[in-house]
Amino acid sequence: MILKDDKENHAKKIAKCIAEEIKLRQKFDQHLVLGLATGSTPISLYNELARLHVEEGLSFRDVFTFNLDEYCGLEDNHPKSYHDFMNVNLFNRIDIPRENIFIPSGQIEPLFERDYCEGYEQTIKDLGGIDVQILGIGRSGHIGFNEPGSSVDSITRKVKLHDITRTDASSDFGGFDNVPTHAITMGMKTILSANRIFFMAFGEAKQEITKRAFCEEITDDIPASHLQRHKKTTICTDFDIT
Ligand code: F6R
Repeated sequence: MILKDDKENHAKKIAKCIAEEIKLRQKFDQHLVLGLATGSTPISLYNELARLHVEEGLSFRDVFTFNLDEYCGLEDNHPKSYHDFMNVNLFNRIDIPRENIFIPSGQIEPLFERDYCEGYEQTIKDLGGIDVQILGIGRSGHIGFNEPGSSVDSITRKVKLHDITRTDASSDFGGFDNVPTHAITMGMKTILSANRIFFMAFGEAKQEITKRAFCEEITDDIPASHLQRHKKTTICTDFDIT
């Protein structure tokens, strides 16, 4: 399903769906597993979820979250880490128990990376899989940090970041050379196994790659194109893609 609206309205609608899912599960003493993205795209959504908590009493005590990715080499409290981003933009503003929050660590020794990534996958499985996944898209065509060439069978792993991705992050890090070269990302298989996906892309910079992802052939060169095969993805944009 493709929906065109402005970013704020999309945020309200997606937050409403998430809130309904949370409340429905709370009625039956069940939890909800959310897959979360960072970056500028989901900020309005996180603001709305925080508002629903503060103003309307929505509780996140039965929610588990798994973030898509983290830069390798950054400590959790680094101001540009995705850990810090999530704390500032969402977790510090809601009542989610700290032990329910999972974000890949950027600090794993190379020797333990494989086990660590398999453990991340297993934790998602143990909680029943991702119920609702939030996604943005990078100009390289990535979702999470699954850069061009990522296969649909990929799981959580360490990846090399595309130059376009590092270029787009260079203002955050004070120059291209300061941007981490690698990251840990949830895999394509992990993402595509989510029950429901909200894909968001806003602004002119995302228009071309989004059109290529959804209007052209499915290819590993544009990992987001694999979402065409996902049964329950809602594409939320503020531009036409047909
Ligand atoms: C971030 C992530 C990335 C971003 C994408 C868009 O956790 O997984 O795929 O969603 O790079 O970033 P923004 O929203 O900053 O344009």
